[in-house]
Amino acid sequence: MKKELFYEGKGKKIFKTQDDDLFIAEFKDDLTAFNAEKKGKEEGKGKLNCKISTIIFEILKKNGIKTHLVKTISDNEQLIERCQIIPIEVLVRNIAAGSLSKRLGIKEGENLPFALVEFCLKDDKLGDPFINDEHCLLLNLVKDQNQIQTIKELARKINTILLDFFDQRNLKLVDFKIEFGLSKNQEIILADEISPDSCRLWDKNTNEKLDKDRFRQDLGNVKIAYEEILKRIMG
Ligand code: TMP
Ligand code: ASP
Repeated sequence: MKKELFYEGKGKKIFKTQDDDLFIAEFKDDLTAFNAEKKGKEEGKGKLNCKISTIIFEILKKNGIKTHLVKTISDNEQLIERCQIIPIEVLVRNIAAGSLSKRLGIKEGENLPFALVEFCLKDDKLGDPFINDEHCLLLNLVKDQNQIQTIKELARKINTILLDFFDQRNLKLVDFKIEFGLSKNQEIILADEISPDSCRLWDKNTNEKLDKDRFRQDLGNVKIAYEEILKRIMG
């Protein structure tokens, strides 16, 4: 089934299969932050993220979002539809934190008046710089303004679904990063993963951080936090 490695990212390895239209994504235990300046490893993290991301993608699918996920095939592997990744990291924020607080001086924890959608260029060498709609067109990352509109609409719809989903599980969805791809028939579909590596999730009552900020900020108990997320979303 699994054939040669097609791509290795910081959190996953992507393998080819016998079927040209299907890939296998293997979730890694590696943890990186600040564009891999900080590196670590947490045994079992890959399995946790694979399970968490699968549950979230299934919820999104049920709510009409098209994704690359076909099915989970082992504890840390998903069979996925081959798509051409659009090299834009789409960030959606509900509460100020991280680089938004740093850049704009908005205090961490402040509710934003509307969901803010931002773009970063997916380019490790350049350190994933923030870009705007016009940069996306200038760099030919998308075909036209319509594709940018579609990406923004999908990001907002995903946010609306997930805000409610996590709220019911006593979690605040502070912000998250998603990636889209172009399917064989040129449709924009959700790709990559949604996990505590790519989201900020806080406990609704205590604001305890239950995501990769525990690794970024050396707060400890990284795996325990990811396990807590899985427990709450499985329930
Ligand atoms: P930021 O506050 O560092 O810009 O991050 C916003 C959200 O996006 C946060 O949930 C972490 C996630 N993110 C990634 O998953 N990968 C990245 O490379 C970056 C910069 C952010
Ligand atoms: N994902 C990026 C990295 O692995 C940045 C981050 O999440 O802090 O370096």
